[in-house]
Amino acid sequence: MKIKTHAVYYLLVFNIVIAFADYVPTDSILLDCGSTTDTVDVDGRKWIGDSNTAFGLPAGGSVTATAEFQDPSLPSQSPYMTARVFHSPITYNFPVSPKTRHWLRLHFYPAPYAGLVPDDAYFDVESSNGHTLLRNFSAYVTAQALTQAFIVREFSLGLIKGGVLEITFRPSDKRESGYAFVNGIEVVSMPEIYGAPAALVGFADQTVEVAGSALQTMYRLNVGGGYVGARNDTGLSRTWYDDSPYIFGAGFGVTYLADPKVKIRPPSGNSDAGYAPADVYGTARSMGPDSRVNMNYNMTWLFQVDANFTYIVRLHFCELQLSKINQRVFDIYINNQTAQESADVLAWSDARGVPVVKDYATYVPGDQLLVALHPSDATRPEYYDAILNGLELFKINDTSGNLAGPNPSPSPMLLAAEAREPEPGFRKSSRRAHVIGGAAGGAAAAVGIAFAICFAVYQRKRRVLGSESAGTSGWLPLYGGGNSTTTTGTSKSNASSHLSSLAVSLCRHFSIAEIKQGTRNFDESLVIGVGGFGKVYRGDIDGGTTRVAVKRSNPSSEQGVNEFQTEIEMLSKLRHRHLVSLIGYCEENGEMILVYDYMAHGTLREHLYNKGNNNPPLSWKQRLEICIGAARGLHYLHTGAKYTIIHRDVKTTNILLDEKWVAKVSDFGLSKTGPTLNNQNHVSTVVKGSFGYLDPEYFRRQQLTDKSDVYSFGVVLFEVLCARPALNPSLAKEQVSLADWALHCQRKGALEEIMDPFLKGKIGPECMRKFAETAEKCLSDHGIERPAMGDVLWNLEFALQLQEGFESGGGKIVEGTNVAVDDANGSVGGGSEASEESDGLNSSAVFSQLINPKGR
Ligand SMILES: *[C@@H]1O[C@H](CO)[C@@H](O)[C@H](O)[C@H]1NC(C)=O
Ligand SMILES: *[C@@H]1O[C@H](CO)[C@@H](O)[C@H](O)[C@H]1NC(C)=O
Ligand SMILES: *[C@@H]1O[C@H](CO)[C@@H](O)[C@H](O)[C@H]1NC(C)=O
Ligand SMILES: *[C@@H]1O[C@H](CO)[C@@H](O)[C@H](O)[C@H]1NC(C)=O
Ligand SMILES: *[C@@H]1O[C@H](CO)[C@@H](O)[C@H](O)[C@H]1NC(C)=O
Ligand SMILES: *[C@@H]1O[C@H](CO)[C@@H](O)[C@H](O)[C@H]1NC(C)=O
Repeated sequence: MKIKTHAVYYLLVFNIVIAFADYVPTDSILLDCGSTTDTVDVDGRKWIGDSNTAFGLPAGGSVTATAEFQDPSLPSQSPYMTARVFHSPITYNFPVSPKTRHWLRLHFYPAPYAGLVPDDAYFDVESSNGHTLLRNFSAYVTAQALTQAFIVREFSLGLIKGGVLEITFRPSDKRESGYAFVNGIEVVSMPEIYGAPAALVGFADQTVEVAGSALQTMYRLNVGGGYVGARNDTGLSRTWYDDSPYIFGAGFGVTYLADPKVKIRPPSGNSDAGYAPADVYGTARSMGPDSRVNMNYNMTWLFQVDANFTYIVRLHFCELQLSKINQRVFDIYINNQTAQESADVLAWSDARGVPVVKDYATYVPGDQLLVALHPSDATRPEYYDAILNGLELFKINDTSGNLAGPNPSPSPMLLAAEAREPEPGFRKSSRRAHVIGGAAGGAAAAVGIAFAICFAVYQRKRRVLGSESAGTSGWLPLYGGGNSTTTTGTSKSNASSHLSSLAVSLCRHFSIAEIKQGTRNFDESLVIGVGGFGKVYRGDIDGGTTRVAVKRSNPSSEQGVNEFQTEIEMLSKLRHRHLVSLIGYCEENGEMILVYDYMAHGTLREHLYNKGNNNPPLSWKQRLEICIGAARGLHYLHTGAKYTIIHRDVKTTNILLDEKWVAKVSDFGLSKTGPTLNNQNHVSTVVKGSFGYLDPEYFRRQQLTDKSDVYSFGVVLFEVLCARPALNPSLAKEQVSLADWALHCQRKGALEEIMDPFLKGKIGPECMRKFAETAEKCLSDHGIERPAMGDVLWNLEFALQLQEGFESGGGKIVEGTNVAVDDANGSVGGGSEASEESDGLNSSAVFSQLINPKGR
């Protein structure tokens, strides 16, 4: 479609920048229930106390109450510190613009209020259009099952009649102790963003109209990106979360950011389509650069849902890299049925940077919903790949007007843990006693449960070791619980039960309180990195005297639990100048947190080519020294420890730089202990690691050796020389993979043409030859042809000598003197002095004096 006019159109659109015009709601009521004063939340939004403006609440029948303690993971006091408590059915009457769709957001913080027991609150919530929004709902049970401190339920109510929205709270437990409560209510008008009918999956030409219906937001994800708060939305005050916890299986694909030159803008004249904010379109996840790999897997997200409802899956697309149709074409599956064949984002949008929203409806008889993308070859596109930028999942009311599902049941793991050995305070009876007796009792019980979950996961992982591609567990947070987990309190650490005593003795244990204090309660502004495992925060400990990096694993990822343990076990025993040091860990409230040395200069990658930061380019000598440091760290992993340790994920973002530019290898989450003395010479394993750096042999045969790290390191060497990413899908096909392209150029003798222009003329020709040769050997197709890490190190040392000779304008250097690599003999087990770099000197300096006395 429109192939002929494409180029012209492209130019045209690119010169017109249409800004996102934010929607301004006509009605906006933010009610802080049970409060007598108006308050302001962290986002600067003003909440009015409902005691002042009763919205039709009858006198009597409800009471105001204040939570007896504040959970530190609550985002702000308002609206969570006060509640309105109902012992009989009570209705709020909100005056609203007629015939207009409205958001209704209900906020619940299940805590002891005025001596009431949190798990006695089971209630229904109904709205005036005859919709049941919640039925026999327990905020307490829900929060526990999702390990969240508070619950937000977002509904969208269509076409409210009569200019009044009635919301009724009705205790469903008829006993005297039963009650209903609510902490906050938002009633905000919105455009009719569900106006376009959604295609019904599996029924060609059938659509589902939802204009009059009520919907509940189940999930809202910024695919390939992080949290985007209500304040950064397009006036619709929606909150967007990271999608990685919902990815099913090991196929994470690759994520990327829009080039700043690409202007993201919605098509004009379509303000009601429910476009996401530009921040959401500016990040994406695609499958990766290797067609062969992509054809063999589905990029899949898995969601827990309520059974027997119809759902709208809203997919947000925005092409950020390509500019022609039939370049990236893919099929979309929803619950194993084809929802869309041959999706081509550019054919829909006509231009790069222009978003597209597509709605698909499907009835779900079970409790899971899978969304999967797979490249289509029906149209023989240029790349076998798929892309997604955002995803929303909405539940539609059923024919009886009901929208309520059951309370989530505790996961089987939780039940198993309970059957095995209840923690003190775990049983309902004793929990009740605690709650009545003291404010923090309920929280302590929740901690017990969260802990039990964690423990159960460990147990399970141990049994199924090896089958690491297992999917997600049943206790992922549903939409709207905020980014924090579980309620608080103090709990003893149980870490010794699943970590070796050695690891425990080598490594400091932090309390969650210390961690929260050090990271200002996981302040988003302190995030210095995000990955599949969760987020990394900058923090300060010991009264602000020590700066650290705090890696908070996503508690919903089972893989995370496993890797958490691996990392503590590995890192606590490995101490080396060129490995990032683990300071300690925190395992409390179901949190898995690792505390590392802070690396002031961040990742190697951001000093090579990350546009948009102000880092001056590194000199060639600096780059060589960094490569040598990293090679030394890897060499130590391979040979210095008792067992060969294979890193498995060597890349420029896993090479960190401290304040003195010393390179340190990080991220052992994927590490595997390699072959030992026995006859076995590889580790058979599920393929992990990062696209662009993956050893082709490992990929083909799923056999992991230390040479897989050598391959990845070869890619790093070329990345350092060429200052471009290992994968750049926006380039011509043959250039996408740096490994292939650099090898091709090296073999043609044309490497100079693709090297970092900044380095032109600054690398000695002999040094260049040595370096390129080394990198090329690392990328040999077969592991057996690749050098060992020690050889790589030696060659890089030599290249540095050649460079120093070149820079000082003389000094003939003789190759061939073999220099022992002295720091490879460290021992495992306790950060013994021997495993530190023993001479305390930079050994390239020593080397330089030995071989080239003129050099310095
Ligand atoms: C509400 O749920 C609780 C716990 O699941 C159950 O015991 C109770 O019978 C339910 N009440 C009603 C009215 O359905
Ligand atoms: C959100 O908005 C704030 C203030 O407008 C801005 O500082 C911040 O960078 C934005 N966040 C994102 C993810 O764009
Ligand atoms: C869904 O509907 C089926 C068939 O009507 C029924 O057997 C099943 O119990 C329902 N599931 C839930 C969770 O309501
Ligand atoms: C989809 O297919 C997979 C594998 O064939 C199966 O395990 C899963 O249960 C199916 N899911 C649904 C919702 O049909
Ligand atoms: C992708 O998902 C579809 C639908 O469930 C299935 O038919 C297909 O076999 C899957 N492809 C791969 C490579 O897993
Ligand atoms: C939702 O409820 C309304 C009644 O308020 C009804 O007209 C509509 O058909 C229901 N939606 C569905 C999908 O059943």
